[in-house]
Amino acid sequence: MGKAIHDLVQEHEKILHVLDIIRKVQANDKISVNALIKFYAELADFIEIYADKCHHGKEEHNLYHTLAPLGDELERNMIIYLIKEHEEAKTINNQIRRAAESGRLSEAATAAAKYRKLLLEHIHNENEELFPAIEKRITLDQEEVIYEHFMAVEKRTLGEGGVSKIDMIIKGWESELLS
Ligand SMILES: [Fe+2]
Ligand SMILES: [Fe+2]
Repeated sequence: MGKAIHDLVQEHEKILHVLDIIRKVQANDKISVNALIKFYAELADFIEIYADKCHHGKEEHNLYHTLAPLGDELERNMIIYLIKEHEEAKTINNQIRRAAESGRLSEAATAAAKYRKLLLEHIHNENEELFPAIEKRITLDQEEVIYEHFMAVEKRTLGEGGVSKIDMIIKGWESELLS
């Protein structure tokens, strides 16, 4: 696996980890309402900054756009579909944020469950269908260039602290809500 695809697969792992935290939080009836509202508000930040701006940003603006014109029709259609799902994910995240900010807990939980379901399928399709198709024809030089662009997106979207700041948020959820 080349550097650029490997970077996206690693980000998928982190997003899948957070999707699993959503599942565990929703299965736990001992968490207070205030702690849950705080979790959903922080989750909306994680989704906006990490999953949407950073990860989907890398995919859409660098990988998809560079490679879509080179692929076959099936691959181009897959990319159109995946970009639509990024938009859908953004809409659902706005629902999570609005519900959390106005204290509507069950609405926030429903939207988070919907987000989880969408992203599980979306990541599966990228990992199992799109990325293997791309890997068959991408050159190491192309991956190198795309990877450099990825690092610029990461710096711009995650800012100071980068991924370690994101990891601290995730650890905080695990220790405060699930331990
Ligand atoms: Fe995606
Ligand atoms: Fe992805």
